[in-house]
Amino acid sequence: MKIAKKSAAAKRGARAGVDIATTKPGTPGGVFMRQFWICAHRSEDLTAGRAKPIKIMSENFTLYRGASGKAHCIDSACPHRLAQMHLGWVEGDDIRCVYHGWKFDGSGQCVEQPAEEAGFARKVRIRAYPCEEYLGMIWVYFGEGAPPGFPPFPRRETPGLVQTWNVEQVPCNYLQSFENSMDEVHVAFTHAPGGSHANLSRDLPIISAREEDWGLLRFGARATGKVRQTLHYAPNVTRVIVPPVAGMEGVGGWPEIYFSFTPVDDENHVWFITSHVEVEGEALEAYRAQREKYERQLAGAKTSVALANELMAGEHYYADVRHPDLAIVQDIAVQAGQGRIADRGRERLGRSDAGIIAWRKILTRELKLIAAGKKPKAWKSPPAEVVPTLGF
Ligand code: FES
Ligand SMILES: [Fe+2]
Repeated sequence: MKIAKKSAAAKRGARAGVDIATTKPGTPGGVFMRQFWICAHRSEDLTAGRAKPIKIMSENFTLYRGASGKAHCIDSACPHRLAQMHLGWVEGDDIRCVYHGWKFDGSGQCVEQPAEEAGFARKVRIRAYPCEEYLGMIWVYFGEGAPPGFPPFPRRETPGLVQTWNVEQVPCNYLQSFENSMDEVHVAFTHAPGGSHANLSRDLPIISAREEDWGLLRFGARATGKVRQTLHYAPNVTRVIVPPVAGMEGVGGWPEIYFSFTPVDDENHVWFITSHVEVEGEALEAYRAQREKYERQLAGAKTSVALANELMAGEHYYADVRHPDLAIVQDIAVQAGQGRIADRGRERLGRSDAGIIAWRKILTRELKLIAAGKKPKAWKSPPAEVVPTLGF
């Protein structure tokens, strides 16, 4: 296993002995992440017959959707003279480079070279990565060998409405957002108590967490004795039940959300969010109509990241964005405000950070094993019966 030289970020994280924030190829963190399916794109944003560039974990790729509807992910550079493949033409489920017309099939095999001798094409491949779709998202396996089972989580059998949310690119390392999702206490302070958040902030939960063979199971215990259970699937997905946004209360139940925090590079990541609300029949129609109204209201507004940047620059008071609908803005401002790569050596963690502490321990252990060339943990597919609970 080839391990790259330590980056500046690695030196900053030296207290832990390994750089838990980086996902660059060849680093222990990069090797760790590439053991899993990674959420790479929203399905509806990739049209059949089109190719586009994506950057994931500091590497560039081409993503395209063939005529069959199947999504394909290949290296960004053509193996001939390195032209960008996303400039090319999608032909059926193949893609043809725009520079000299070399054509590759969905498996990455070169199948045509207009100006070359017969027999050369079969010796040429572009690397292709396994690609599947679930939860309205395209998932790619960037690792070596066969991918783990798909989908990465138990397939939902319950009826309901599945919706994908706006895709947001957040200007900081992915681990800050994943850690934030393990921090239930911040909800009472960051997200404006009152309205639909009233229950959450009535009393603060005592946090605990348990390592599972699929990730981390976290508990938030209230004084009432009720426990909210949240799932953190390795390496970067949180599955949680959250309150409805303002205006959506009473239309359906509380949505269950799958958050994927996908690294673009070490200083940026993307939020891919799918929600599932158990509504059927007339209730489903009422929910859909209300949600569309809500989305129309937001349509003219600035992006969450733009608003969060202005908040961080002091151009608004935090009080101005203290509305439950702006939870994403509030989260981005808090997390990106920690710095592009938070200096964890300067933190003072407490009892309420039990989830974060547990995940960092797992990550540190795994990255040390990888750095030492030892066998990391054999992660398993999560069982269907472990689900998030509301805890009220
Ligand atoms: S660079 Fe792609 S065909 Fe020449
Ligand atoms: Fe939050």
